[in-house]
Amino acid sequence: MKIGTAAKGWPVGLVCVAAVALSLALTVDAVKREDFKTCEQSAFCLRHRQFAEAVAGASKPAGIVGGAASGQPASQYSVVPGTVHLDGHTLVALVEQKEDRVPLKFEVSFLAGGSIRLRAQEETPLFPRFDDTQKHTLRGEGRDLPYAPPESLRLTSGTVNGVAVHTVNVTGAADAFSVRVAEQPWSLTYLRNDKPVIQLNSKGFFKFEQLRKCPDGDTPTDGEWEETFRTWTDSKPRGPESFGLDISFVGFEHVYGIPEHASPLSLKPTRGDKDGYDQPYRLYNLDVFEYELDNPMALYGSIPLMLAHSAEATVGVLWLNAAETWVDVTHERSSAISNLFRRSGGAGREPSVSTHWISESGVMDVFLFPGPTVADTYQQYAAIVEQTALPRDFALGYHQSRWNYLDEEDVLTINDKMHEHGIPYDVIWLDIEHTDGKRYFTWDGQKFPDPAGLQGQLGRDGHQLVTIVDPHVKRDTSYRIWSEANERGYFIKARDGSSAFQGWCWPGDSSWVDCFDSEAAAWFSEQYHMDKYNGSTRNLFIWNDMNEPSVFNGPEITLDKDAQHHGGWEHRNVHNLYGMLYHKASADGLRTRESPNLRPFVLSRAYFAGSQRYGPIWTGDNTADWAHLRASVPMVLSNNIAGMHFSGADVGGFFGNPDETLLTRWYQLGIWYPFFRAHAHIDTKRREPWLLGEPYLTHIRDAVRERYRLLPYWYTLFREAGLTGMPIMRPMWIEFPAEKGLFAEDKAFMVGQAIMVVPVTDSDAAQPVDVAFPAQENWYNMRTHDMYMGPARRQFSVGLGDTLVFARGGSIVPTRERNRRSAVLMRRDPFTLYVYVGRAGTAAGRLYVDDGESYEYEDGAFIERELSFANATLVSRPSARTTASAAQAAFAKSMERVRIERVVVVGLRNPLTRATVRAGGEERTIEVSYSGSRADAECVVRDPAVPVGSDWEIALS
Ligand code: GLC
Repeated sequence: MKIGTAAKGWPVGLVCVAAVALSLALTVDAVKREDFKTCEQSAFCLRHRQFAEAVAGASKPAGIVGGAASGQPASQYSVVPGTVHLDGHTLVALVEQKEDRVPLKFEVSFLAGGSIRLRAQEETPLFPRFDDTQKHTLRGEGRDLPYAPPESLRLTSGTVNGVAVHTVNVTGAADAFSVRVAEQPWSLTYLRNDKPVIQLNSKGFFKFEQLRKCPDGDTPTDGEWEETFRTWTDSKPRGPESFGLDISFVGFEHVYGIPEHASPLSLKPTRGDKDGYDQPYRLYNLDVFEYELDNPMALYGSIPLMLAHSAEATVGVLWLNAAETWVDVTHERSSAISNLFRRSGGAGREPSVSTHWISESGVMDVFLFPGPTVADTYQQYAAIVEQTALPRDFALGYHQSRWNYLDEEDVLTINDKMHEHGIPYDVIWLDIEHTDGKRYFTWDGQKFPDPAGLQGQLGRDGHQLVTIVDPHVKRDTSYRIWSEANERGYFIKARDGSSAFQGWCWPGDSSWVDCFDSEAAAWFSEQYHMDKYNGSTRNLFIWNDMNEPSVFNGPEITLDKDAQHHGGWEHRNVHNLYGMLYHKASADGLRTRESPNLRPFVLSRAYFAGSQRYGPIWTGDNTADWAHLRASVPMVLSNNIAGMHFSGADVGGFFGNPDETLLTRWYQLGIWYPFFRAHAHIDTKRREPWLLGEPYLTHIRDAVRERYRLLPYWYTLFREAGLTGMPIMRPMWIEFPAEKGLFAEDKAFMVGQAIMVVPVTDSDAAQPVDVAFPAQENWYNMRTHDMYMGPARRQFSVGLGDTLVFARGGSIVPTRERNRRSAVLMRRDPFTLYVYVGRAGTAAGRLYVDDGESYEYEDGAFIERELSFANATLVSRPSARTTASAAQAAFAKSMERVRIERVVVVGLRNPLTRATVRAGGEERTIEVSYSGSRADAECVVRDPAVPVGSDWEIALS
């Protein structure tokens, strides 16, 4: 973010911001905490937290909800008797607060697959609440979600322990499940096989600030009608409109997700626990300079998706709200279960995690995903939110970035050096200095006199160029982008609703395009078309930065909450959506710049639920130290848990200068991030791999080549993620859901099902690294093929060239092993299949291939093979998703000559020396080479010459 070097060239009037920037350049100190609010400084958060404290304090011991020592009911909201009824797939009820008596309308909708959705707002609001988050996030803008057939729902009413309850039983699902709504106080319980799994308002923290008129002449209190933070005042024209709700996960000890925070994978308690935090997790997209680790402060992105996991089940919650949101987490032994579900004999003393969600505005809109498996939970999420877009093949390669590559010559030198040193890479990146004075879509004519020529040269070598486009538009009448947007009224408005909002960012005085105006967004998309973006070619792709949005002189370095968007909506309602809509407009622009459309590539810094549809994100401005290297693992894992699969951290660390060991280790880890980019701050020393000398260069080259070798596996995983929502980079518990010892593991992780990575995260080479091999399974070191039998713990000494990456027995991993300059140059390369034989003597895997750039795969133009190994025979068959079509046939024809050039079977018990290849009705026998005499030996079938897209079998004997 702000930094002295970048401040040069700012107008003289920007004295104070420039001074801050300069001081940041001189001293690299920690985050300026005082720039950002705590819960106590955010009036609505404080109100809800205090309310929760009062309720908890008033509750009877053991958390039995519904009674109060003080005589006050713990929850003040109850169902209005006689209002509960089923309307199609929705259970409707009115809920009232004791004193206010202004009814809230509750709608509990049942989705196919067992998910439910609870929406709540005033029955007759004084004025509309913002309700477009669903439009920008859900499939089909939320209009045609797959709801359960009404005939599968049965409503019964009665009393339990003296409390009136209404139960909806859902038939037709694999597991019997039901939803029970208690009247007084209201609570909602999701039961599977009669056992509570998720409970809403069982702690009575529900509080809904009803829309109201500002009391005449009243002094604003509690920040309800006006709120000041440091020198900024938020005018709050609509007054308080926040709401909060407790959501408890019964029988769970771990919750995950809700990125983005620099905190451990398993979310820490935030109240009443000395080992936890004293602030809630905050979701509010912010540009945080030098962010601190192990902290629940908000960062650049926000995804309000949380998963809870136990050895028995996985469930999820999506809190669909884009306003500032805080989430408290508490771990409890028993208290979440209300007396409605207490059984005799001590049942109900289960552990649980309670969460308290607090949002500033909008409607309450919550989805519960009941699992019970991880895959079910993601299927339920994927049913309502579209998952990761299939990227261009080059996007999975190595991205080389820095702030800044100076000029055309510099870029071409990097390109030459990569080739000279045999380091494959796909994309070279240009940061803000490539522009004419931070006017995006322009070039500095001195440094980049021939950008199209530069892209042509890179393209001929198989590479792409990325340029940066930030959302702040320099206010300059001679800048076409500014004048057009200004004339057409496309900028976000100031609080007066008419003048364009103005603030400071890289170019100085700027305004921001309002992507909530569909006309403005369409105009902005067009700016990426080649006839508009001078000097751009089809080899140019985009990086959107600062789109939280970052406003250097704004409250918390962002936009004022009372700035106005299209339709008169205040920024407070849409803050966490802004970055995603900007990202979408950019991706739309690239997609439509050619006909037929090609897949776009746009990196974004800000994100929300659904950003995975538009492109990757990265974890922003990290630091070149070991702690940041370690922290990147849970950060990228949390993004993956929340569906933002395509993400990574700046390899090497953005701020500061990594030493050779750190940088080498970071590459060895970075090749396992789904998005793999090296990037560095303008004030850092150059650190391209060859500058490190030997032995570092060799180790980095080996790492990068390992990434390229495995690109077929990565691409197959991306395809899967797009269809199923399953993470790509996975916490260990996703693959080993019953192994409790792995539930908080945030160092080792899986890439897909087949590969376990244990990064070296310490500078001390003498320090052995601990590896836990899970399950009753064989694990094979991917380089040496040494075998380890799980479950076991082992310690490894690791020289700088050693990495701890293990293939899981029972998997088949597709690779391409020819060294090329880039991913696109590998498109016609033959494949090598690695069969890692499992304890049962079998293995399975999958391979997905398409043209790597078009949308023809949507018409069936792909090859997808199910690979299986049993009885010493490897078989390739089309996947169930493969269907015959003209597009399929055409693609298969184009791949006719692409073959399997080698099969390596690792871990055969007995040496086998012959392979019988059956394909196309013919049979051939070839010799196999065999090395070693142990169980971890590898057996190599050289050139079975079977086409990748056809059916074949290779039997070993
Ligand atoms: C922001 C980005 C960083 C970039 C810099 C200059 O700090 O996070 O990656 O290099 O801006 O554009």
